[in-house]
Amino acid sequence: METNEFREFCRARPDKQNILDVFKGKWICEVPVDSGLSTGGKVHAFEDFRIEWLMDAYGEADGKSILELGPFEGGHAYMLSKLDPSLIISIEANVSCFLKCLCIKEAFDLGNVEFRLGDFNEYLPNCDRRFDLVVASGVLYHSSDPMALLESVCRVSDNLFIWTHYADPDRMQTNPNLKKKFGPLQGGSFRGLDYEFFEQTYQYGVTDEEFCGGTGKTSRWLTKDAIVSALRHFGHKELRYGPDDANHPNGPSTCLFSRRS
Ligand SMILES: C[S@@+](CC[C@H](N)C(=O)[O-])C[C@H]1O[C@@H](n2cnc3c(N)ncnc32)[C@H](O)[C@@H]1O
Repeated sequence: METNEFREFCRARPDKQNILDVFKGKWICEVPVDSGLSTGGKVHAFEDFRIEWLMDAYGEADGKSILELGPFEGGHAYMLSKLDPSLIISIEANVSCFLKCLCIKEAFDLGNVEFRLGDFNEYLPNCDRRFDLVVASGVLYHSSDPMALLESVCRVSDNLFIWTHYADPDRMQTNPNLKKKFGPLQGGSFRGLDYEFFEQTYQYGVTDEEFCGGTGKTSRWLTKDAIVSALRHFGHKELRYGPDDANHPNGPSTCLFSRRS
């Protein structure tokens, strides 16, 4: 990154819309229309049914501490912030996504959200604090070591929300879109737990404007069985299953809420 990418003035009257316009034409997600502001993005991550489902599964969040992994453009942090948690730590590795999150924080006065720039894989293993809730939406299938990630998030919290794509061996071998992205079904072992996964290699990287994947060159997609067994193995035995979309165009996806019991 150049040291001063934004070599320009904003000469308009100071306004919250100016903040969002710093990334004009580069937003993927749109902010709620009743805010009177607009990014021009298309995806409604600021009014996302997955977070509504999570809150139904988890209960009241006021006064709670939340760790969010991979906020992208801050849509879920915005929704969670409105539930009045004491603190949301939200870790984003992609520099332009992180800067967009800061724009959202400033435009919407998200005083209880601390966006942090960095890799959550570097944060979690040495994390010595606990959170009331971890929100891991859209990150498990971007991980090159998803079992280690699940172990870490189960260690730092008794409550975990996951939305993720998962590997379905039948679909991955029959759906041409999926077939071309993945290698064969493989077996792995982590802390005595055997599991199955497919590995995918990213076609694009962080230099691509719309890239929202992981920090590694590859990622492992776990089967749903592997995810559930891992959560139980790491002490999260109470599970609630949310909306599952086996025919999602990018691969089967599911919502899970797990609690230590
Ligand atoms: C697919 S998006 C998910 C966005 C949002 N959480 C959602 O569910 O809609 C994945 C996000 O996680 C970020 N990310 C992926 N791996 C990361 C890592 N190891 N550390 C920090 N951020 C990461 C990406 O840059 C991207 O913003």
